[in-house]
Amino acid sequence: MIVVTGATGSIGRALVERLRGHDVLAAVRRPADELAAPYALADFERPESIGELLSPGDRLFLNSSLWPGFADAHRAVIDLAARAGVAQIVALSVRDAAPGSRLGWGMHGVVDAHLRESGVPWAVLQPSGFMQNLPGEFGTGTMYGSYGTGLVNYIDTRDIADVAATLLTGPVGQGGDYVLSGPESLSHDRIAERITEVTGRDVRYVDLTVPEMTAHLERQGLPGPRAAELAVLMAETGDGRWAPATDTVMELTGRPPRSLADFLTDHKDAFA
Ligand SMILES: NC(=O)c1ccc[n+]([C@@H]2O[C@H](COP(=O)([O-])OP(=O)(O)OC[C@H]3O[C@@H](n4cnc5c(N)ncnc54)[C@H](OP(=O)(O)O)[C@@H]3O)[C@@H](O)[C@H]2O)c1
Repeated sequence: MIVVTGATGSIGRALVERLRGHDVLAAVRRPADELAAPYALADFERPESIGELLSPGDRLFLNSSLWPGFADAHRAVIDLAARAGVAQIVALSVRDAAPGSRLGWGMHGVVDAHLRESGVPWAVLQPSGFMQNLPGEFGTGTMYGSYGTGLVNYIDTRDIADVAATLLTGPVGQGGDYVLSGPESLSHDRIAERITEVTGRDVRYVDLTVPEMTAHLERQGLPGPRAAELAVLMAETGDGRWAPATDTVMELTGRPPRSLADFLTDHKDAFA
């Protein structure tokens, strides 16, 4: 059986859909009758509720959004999976995750390191930013950031789901890190132009200094230290560190990753 956590999220829903025809169980916090698979109620805040769904030989997709207890909860689920005799864990991380990094990158780094030492065959997916963020970022018509004019790379979460499905249904390897990207790297100004070209909605990107961006995020309710860290992270990303595209989606799925134009065409309504 393939157990999918985070099944109601943007990756999880697409993954459950891709896994139609396989023996799949979605581990969800709330009833989710609309999913394309049976579900069981489980919560990372009670790791044993996920552990008790696992049997020898199962495969596990490990994913949830981030919260302060993320690293402890995910490590506990990995330990329970190892004890249950799970055959493979495919975990969702982020590009360049490492213990001690800023914000979620540090938490993912801690979990990834734990998984690599778990003794369970593993795969760590390391995607760049999600195209699915863009409708929210440009929701008011203006996206604020401190990326400058640097190139960034966004990936469609459907491609992450396709890669996960390939790994969860193919032979179990000994382990590997998979850096996943979209096909092209663009500045946020160019992304705004593309959105306007494809959706007809007039949007723009406004670049702020790190202190201005910190204040902007604080006004949105982010606590001061996290706001400052996020603004610095954006400015660092602006040096192009996550711009290079990788061939991983092509190598694993046999087709190129979706372009920004593909995403925008499929999600025009989200920008309305
Ligand atoms: N956004 C980006 O640009 C980006 C880039 C790289 C990596 N990432 C990583 O991607 C991951 C999230 O991706 P996503 O597409 O799945 O996000 P998402 O669409 O926000 O979905 C998050 C999923 O996690 C579930 N979840 C959250 N807390 C849970 C808990 N305590 N127990 C059980 N399930 C829980 C949610 O369930 P509910 O429906 O019940 O809330 C939902 O199914 C994060 O680890 C993030 O760091 C994000």
